Amino acid sequence: MYGDRFTLNDEDRYLATLYQRFPINIARGKGATVWDNAGKEYIDCMGGYGVALVGHCNDRVVDAIKRQAELLITAHMSTYNDTRLRFMEKIASVAPTSLNKIFFANSGAESVEAALKFARKYSGKHGVIAMNGAYHGKSFGALSVTYNEKYRKSFMPLLDGVKFVSYSDPSLLEEAIDDTIGTVILEPIQGETGIIVPPDNLLPKIREICDRRNLVLVFDEIQSGLGRTGKMWAGQNWKTTPDIMCLAKGIAGGIPMGLVLAKQEIMDSMKLGEHSSTFGGSPIACAAGIATMEALVDDKLVENAAQMGLRFREGLSRLKEKHKIVREVRGIGMMIGVELRFDVKDILFDGIRRGLLLLYSGRNILRLLPPLVMNEVTISRVVDIMDIILTEEEKRRNVSKYG
Ligand SMILES: Cc1ncc(COP(=O)(O)O)c(C=O)c1O
Repeated sequence: MYGDRFTLNDEDRYLATLYQRFPINIARGKGATVWDNAGKEYIDCMGGYGVALVGHCNDRVVDAIKRQAELLITAHMSTYNDTRLRFMEKIASVAPTSLNKIFFANSGAESVEAALKFARKYSGKHGVIAMNGAYHGKSFGALSVTYNEKYRKSFMPLLDGVKFVSYSDPSLLEEAIDDTIGTVILEPIQGETGIIVPPDNLLPKIREICDRRNLVLVFDEIQSGLGRTGKMWAGQNWKTTPDIMCLAKGIAGGIPMGLVLAKQEIMDSMKLGEHSSTFGGSPIACAAGIATMEALVDDKLVENAAQMGLRFREGLSRLKEKHKIVREVRGIGMMIGVELRFDVKDILFDGIRRGLLLLYSGRNILRLLPPLVMNEVTISRVVDIMDIILTEEEKRRNVSKYG
């Protein structure tokens, strides 16, 4: 019924080989479920790498896109548009009040690029401190503050003046500050590196250092923001507000959008034309963004992420007790990591066979970024399927020697 003509190989014939690909051809989705082109059903804990935040084909988002598509799809930022205004009002109503100016981009990396430029312009300094393990995207600026050597090594020289420091030790950050440094950038919870939750004092301490040393603090909330951790912003878990915040992924229900929220004085340091984007702030993305915000706030998906995230981690922690190959279960809300003692590749593929889509972080960490609409029944099913997968994996690996 769904696209029978396409096999997995047909896409690969055309595509640049830049992605680790999985043997699944997704044809449609609803909520936390997707179906492949043969009609097989999967529970989606991959969530399009966190993009399917308010669920696949969320009714509010679908209706908003349909309505806006018949009205106006594109309107350049040099013109005004009421849908864009309504979206900004929605974002402003949930954003930290100090971050009262908005720049529209179209992806995560683009938001980070813009944030780095804004911070440099305002501080007058080119140096940036980023964190060991950080992931901020793969365009040149974003890559310059991304830690993983695998992504960086073929593209040197990157931006000058970036220093990496330990993610968990603010004293090392303070030591790294010199006259060149104007910006500190970090993910409140590191996603790509394996759902690394900071120690409780870290974010407030870094905030205090940035205030004292006059540095612009940028939070990359691209993966952790918009309710993912059970709070609208992950920084709220530690009552810490940055000077600039980057958003993207699920912000427009799956339509590309990136956003930079910043303090007025930082945005005011930029002159007309010093940054721009042709597609930024498109009415279709803004309409989808309004619907996404309504789903998060009016449908209480942020609260659901807090409650269901707890259930999820309880279930997974039971699996940790039972299965020796599970080293740790961690995370906040619906941003969950399961660290194993082995490579997770076979587990991901077994998941696909058994109707469960999972994500990975590095070689041995399973990452779960489920849609925030996921309910308790589905979570129990996920835990049951993972129980079976882990049992099989332990049998295959004859894991008793770890007992
Ligand atoms: C924290 C963080 N920053 C930036 C990015 C880059 O976003 P994009 O792939 O949309 O450029 C990602 C993507 O995974 C991310 O998780």
